[in-house]
Amino acid sequence: LLFQQLIPRAQLVEAQGLVGGLDFAARAGEDRPYTVVNFISSADGRATFHGRSAPLGDAGDRELFHALRERAEVVLAGTTTISVERYGRLIRDPDRRRRRIDAGQTPEPLACVVTRSGKVPTDAPLFTEPEARIVVFGPVGLDLGRVEAQLEVVELDPGELTLTTVMRRLRGGFGIRSLVCEGGPTLFGALLMEGLVDELFLTVAPKLTGGGNSPPITSGPELPELQLLELIWALEHENSLYLRYALR
Ligand SMILES: NC(=O)c1ccc[n+]([C@@H]2O[C@H](COP(=O)([O-])OP(=O)(O)OC[C@H]3O[C@@H](n4cnc5c(N)ncnc54)[C@H](OP(=O)(O)O)[C@@H]3O)[C@@H](O)[C@H]2O)c1
Repeated sequence: LLFQQLIPRAQLVEAQGLVGGLDFAARAGEDRPYTVVNFISSADGRATFHGRSAPLGDAGDRELFHALRERAEVVLAGTTTISVERYGRLIRDPDRRRRRIDAGQTPEPLACVVTRSGKVPTDAPLFTEPEARIVVFGPVGLDLGRVEAQLEVVELDPGELTLTTVMRRLRGGFGIRSLVCEGGPTLFGALLMEGLVDELFLTVAPKLTGGGNSPPITSGPELPELQLLELIWALEHENSLYLRYALR
């Protein structure tokens, strides 16, 4: 699968060659993992169509999505996203699993879930996957019952149950250096508010959803100040744009 690379200069590139060479972990600071957020948006700025992101996607988006997962030590996703998008096993492709093992990593990333309400979608296929490793950060007394996945629950006092604490724990307690957040908009808005994002990979789909209640890629309170971005690359494939931004 070849993209037309616009920036820095036009040439044909493969997602695996581009993303596979990225060493997010090497960029981690002491306080938290290097954090990359991945989203797709319609051309009219919506994150879903009929409640799901899948209709917006295409082969290029899926390729980048899986290439990013392959680079991550942790995949973070919101509880609603895990439920709506029916999250299952994070990496199925044997080649991707093999490359991770060869690089001294686990075959798939640790899945991270954060909940303040304690409502975790344990009926999602991810939780019934014996090979899946999941850490849930939640309130004291959180009981998720029996799940087949390898589950660790970290209980936090209400004042401590913030994304900043979660990131610090992942970095310090779990030794995590790279994290890919797959949304949704509520979680992304909250991460931005706490200043925890390093990069945004944004697919702009050549599709219009029209009106309706679909959110943009962020929701929640407005930021106190505009967050500025630096465009690192821009790829094109079959009318979709694939933009990689660094947060300033
Ligand atoms: N276009 C895309 O690329 C894309 C990507 C992902 C998802 N989506 C779509 O987005 C929709 C779901 O997104 P969503 O915004 O409704 O939900 P979400 O971001 O997936 O999950 C929100 C949940 O995250 C939990 N959370 C934990 N800590 C939080 C914090 N500090 N601040 C805020 N939330 C926190 C909350 O659970 P508690 O209430 O238990 O605390 C909250 O209810 C779905 O329709 C999905 O298809 C689109």
